[in-house]
Amino acid sequence: MSTEPGSSYDEIAGMYHRLWDDWYLPAAMPALECLFFSEVRRGAKVLDLCCGSGHVTKELVARGYDVTGVDASAGLIEHAREQLPNVDFRVHDVCELRLEKQFDAILSTFDALNHILTLDGLREAFTAAKNALSPDGLFVFDMNLEEAHSVDLHQWAVTRDEDNVTLVRGNYFPETQLGLTELIWFTRETGAENSWKQHCSIVRERCYPQADILAALREAGFSRVDVLAAVEVGMHPQLGLGRRFYSVRH
Ligand SMILES: C[S@@+](CC[C@H](N)C(=O)[O-])C[C@H]1O[C@@H](n2cnc3c(N)ncnc32)[C@H](O)[C@@H]1O
Repeated sequence: MSTEPGSSYDEIAGMYHRLWDDWYLPAAMPALECLFFSEVRRGAKVLDLCCGSGHVTKELVARGYDVTGVDASAGLIEHAREQLPNVDFRVHDVCELRLEKQFDAILSTFDALNHILTLDGLREAFTAAKNALSPDGLFVFDMNLEEAHSVDLHQWAVTRDEDNVTLVRGNYFPETQLGLTELIWFTRETGAENSWKQHCSIVRERCYPQADILAALREAGFSRVDVLAAVEVGMHPQLGLGRRFYSVRH
């Protein structure tokens, strides 16, 4: 995925932070408890890869980890820094990531790596994670397989409060393995009684076949890989269908 000059998440940063705060993490908690938190000791150096606006980073900090967060979206990182001023946040494309230190563990959540749209890019991201991980470290991430798009998301889902109205719908194109999330949202103009600003954006994700993900991990140098279906580790099908958690070591 090209993240220069800006990430596609930049334009939706405020809306993403407002709308999806507190959605993924509670649903993923049983899986993360079992695959990550129980495996990584307090005080460990943890990299939150594609950390977004810091929903999961907040939990990592609360659990006593020494956290670094990386994301391609400067807009989302700004929100993350506001909430967690003591965390080392960096704006970076994971495919080109070179960090000066190594980590005891790396976590990448909420199908962030599906946003990388080429297999070469995915391989580069895994290689960057491998290089940033200490030899006995743990890398946990989740990705959506095609099955995640078997749910019909064609209808607009509407969320509204006093100052925001948001419409979201999804579409999947099997021939290109691309999932598109279309967003249209309206924000009330400050100081105006009934004036609204319209925004729209599209977020793209690619659903790689499991075999391609495993091959890319192998090529990046990871030899120990466990794969778990999210629904089998306690995630509700609404977010868990087609989602896999990967627990990976050198
Ligand atoms: C669905 S959000 C998940 C954010 C966060 N992990 C969470 O659980 O809230 C996907 C994130 O991946 C980031 N992202 C997508 N492609 C990226 C890339 N190539 N390098 C770094 N971050 C990327 C986006 O900016 C966005 O923050």
